[in-house]
Amino acid sequence: MDINCSAEELSIFETVGRVSDQMSTECYLIGGFVRDKLLGRPTKDADIVCTGDGIALAQAVAHQLKPKPHVSYFKNFGTAHFRFHEFDVEFVGARKESYRAESRKPDVEPGTIQDDQLRRDFTINALAVSLNKENFGKLTDPFNGLADLESKIIRTPLGPDITFSDDPLRMMRAIRFATQLQFDILPEVFDAICRNAERIKIISQERITDELNKIMAAPKPSVGLDLLYKSGLLKYFFPQFVDLTGVEIIEGKGHKDNFYHTLQVIDNTAAKSDNLWLRWAALLHDIGKPATKRFEDGHGWTFHGHEVVGERMTPRIFKQLKLPLNEKMKYVAKLVSLHLRPISLTKEDITDSAMRRLLFDAGEDIDDLMILCESDITSKNKQKVKRFLENFEMVKERLIAVEENDRIRTWQPPISGDDIMHIFNLTPSREVGVLKNAIKDAILDGVITNSYDAAYALLVAKAAELNLQPVNTVARQEENNQP
Ligand code: CTP
Repeated sequence: MDINCSAEELSIFETVGRVSDQMSTECYLIGGFVRDKLLGRPTKDADIVCTGDGIALAQAVAHQLKPKPHVSYFKNFGTAHFRFHEFDVEFVGARKESYRAESRKPDVEPGTIQDDQLRRDFTINALAVSLNKENFGKLTDPFNGLADLESKIIRTPLGPDITFSDDPLRMMRAIRFATQLQFDILPEVFDAICRNAERIKIISQERITDELNKIMAAPKPSVGLDLLYKSGLLKYFFPQFVDLTGVEIIEGKGHKDNFYHTLQVIDNTAAKSDNLWLRWAALLHDIGKPATKRFEDGHGWTFHGHEVVGERMTPRIFKQLKLPLNEKMKYVAKLVSLHLRPISLTKEDITDSAMRRLLFDAGEDIDDLMILCESDITSKNKQKVKRFLENFEMVKERLIAVEENDRIRTWQPPISGDDIMHIFNLTPSREVGVLKNAIKDAILDGVITNSYDAAYALLVAKAAELNLQPVNTVARQEENNQP
């Protein structure tokens, strides 16, 4: 076998080959496992294609393994799967029809291995390695997939219009593989993507987003995001991102192209962190700019409040893209809303209280916010970038010093929002927020000490201004010394 398998993988494949011989069928390893092994990339799941019944083969193989794995299967699609020691093995019978995950036409016509290879997405994914004893380890490569792997080319086995019409998600997959593997899409294949882009509309958002996230997780996501834009695919599922493109010029003054600026920020972030959600925050950090863009006489272009608009757009975009509507979304929205704050601290003579306020608002996410903010420093002017980065370094050092002294990250004011509601018999409302912020600000600004008694006195005074009187008492929190 040309591909480098572990002893355990080899032993499973030998079993599959032996059982297949007994059943008088041909069987092959195919797809991502072969591709990734040849590229020396880690892979944890194998696809096996056989002439005949894939489910029967899977069940017969499972019988030979100890402990016997549970086989799950889809009769209509002729596919079966088991997991054996962290290793996922998928079986399918070779078919004449296109191979796709969600075929609406379940009854596929059986075919030869060549038929099956022809209906796969790319030549590099159609490489098959025989598992039968007679040819064990022999590569079957009818479309020169090996040569394409070596020259790093994404090419379809059939004419690209046919391959993409079989399953339009493959247009996203082409761009995803190009980004992940740093391959080039053959120009005529890319032209076909541009021509067929609208067909992406029939694909479920979950499948599209799955590919998008794989692009976002790649070392240089900008490659794929730019190809999604240039091919015309992006506008069908993420028009707000496309709205960032372009430069307007008034009175000789232009602004940055916010799309390409954003791509740069995503790559800068990706170079510093593998956190997918931090990369999403980079993608969305300026998403509020088109809606807030103004040309002001004497000032030029402004985008006032774009961070607030971006924060509000985040849940809508997550819903539209079927991204998780949980704490990940809140984290992204928070980073979008705070993304200008660290930079604003480089500008003036900054007090410790401004530093404390940022540490409080960012909490445990301060390090990620600083990565995002540093990544946001892009300019063609190298001197400018250098100066900004130096100032930014100073802010970072001061934040560390303030945090060491005051431990704000995990600090909570001595009277909580729940306490305030109880004391004044309030339901969640604007007043609760006003009173809570008054306590927090007074402590962070050093106006009162960080103690329950001082906070309570301030609270009662502020509440009186809102015509509120305390009606209940609360148990005092244990006091901590910070800040
Ligand atoms: N395939 C295809 N068309 C699709 C999806 C998959 O032809 N729309 C074929 C390809 O031969 C692919 C194989 O099915 O290699 C397995 O698909 P999948 O597991 O989705 O992708 P991998 O190529 O294994 O890559 P990855 O695991 O990185 O997604």
